[in-house]
Amino acid sequence: MRVIIVVGARPNFIKVGPLVPALTAAGIAADLVHTGQHYDAAMSDVFFEDLDLPEPRWYLGVGSGTHATQTAAAMVKLEELLAAERPDALIVVGDVNSTLAGALAAAKLHIPVVHVEAGLRSRDFSMPEEVNRLVTDQLSALLLTPVREADENLLREGVDPSRIRFVGNIMAQSLLEHLSQARDRRACERYGLEPGGYVLATIHRPENTDHPERLAEIAAALKYSPLPVLFPVHPRTRPRIAEHGIVPGTRGVTLADPVGYLDMLSLQHDAAAIVTDSGGVQEEACMLRTPCVTVRRSTERRITIDVGANRLVGAWRERILAALEEALASNRDWPLPELWDEGVASRIAQALSDGVEPMPGV
Ligand code: UD1
Ligand code: UDP
Repeated sequence: MRVIIVVGARPNFIKVGPLVPALTAAGIAADLVHTGQHYDAAMSDVFFEDLDLPEPRWYLGVGSGTHATQTAAAMVKLEELLAAERPDALIVVGDVNSTLAGALAAAKLHIPVVHVEAGLRSRDFSMPEEVNRLVTDQLSALLLTPVREADENLLREGVDPSRIRFVGNIMAQSLLEHLSQARDRRACERYGLEPGGYVLATIHRPENTDHPERLAEIAAALKYSPLPVLFPVHPRTRPRIAEHGIVPGTRGVTLADPVGYLDMLSLQHDAAAIVTDSGGVQEEACMLRTPCVTVRRSTERRITIDVGANRLVGAWRERILAALEEALASNRDWPLPELWDEGVASRIAQALSDGVEPMPGV
């Protein structure tokens, strides 16, 4: 069996880390194609180094653009590649534009799509990711889910149960494989911070960055945090902070460049609490037992709230600060979600080895 795996954006690289060796061990030949959705060294190269990922066999150089421009550019190049290569399946991960582009291009070429991290739903259609998730799942021949709730979401949407396989969360496996290496880095000390003595923040969702009033509320909350804040800034967010004249403040807020995966795990591990709107960071905070405050209207990672690791708040200064106080005082003994372990990639390899049924009529 021969598969191609599409990656394009930061969380994709982290999700495929454990996958390539597990597929190879199962006798499945796997090549990576990098769409080029993320291209800065700090948003792409560093993850190949930190996760020891194989060089992508193809680099499509798609770059940034509006949703249609970026998705269409990736589709055109992926269609050409897939038509020439005709793999037995195309693996797509997560919910970014590169995921959707891969699913659309492969489905029309009758190449089965395998979706890793299928079935998550925020039920908020203002999120581009929710559109990507829904369409990708409808086009997928095999849907590999990270939580049982995802199976239920897919069944409710009419997906045939024989296509769904609960395998667990691949982000958790990446984290477990890199944790001891990451812990030794004590990355916080490079920013003059001590383990347990700071709050880590990441904010990059358009619902926060593209609304000056929300971004200002978040910035104000960080400014009045009871502990110093370290904020590695996503390239989408940095110009918005400057454009809107928002200064998170000198009261202990450090703005930094995006960091690599091992540093990020180290920073999350040592933080007293995390304030974020990232999908992956909500999951990692849960795994690392660092209490999390998610600044969004909804989350597709509801399991992290259900187990007691995370709380969801809108972008209002007072609410963020109240949730942060609560997080800082909270117990860290929540149960970890089922199958968030080191066996996820081999369960994925097993599901592929068991065979991918073509879509009806194909
Ligand atoms: C994308 C995903 C989002 C994911 C995030 C992970 C979609 C719709 N969104 O959002 O789900 O959470 O990646 O980080 O796919 N830029 C750079 N350098 C880069 C990459 C981007 O400067 O290497 C800047 C460009 O100005 C670009 C902007 O960031 O326009 C946004 O990049 P884009 O890939 O469109 O979306 P993200 O916000 O990164
Ligand atoms: N991450 C990182 N460096 C950073 C910020 C995030 O390595 O400066 C990692 C983080 O640990 C997680 C992943 O990127 O593994 C999450 O990606 P992101 O927040 O960009 O996207 P999302 O998960 O929201 O789609």
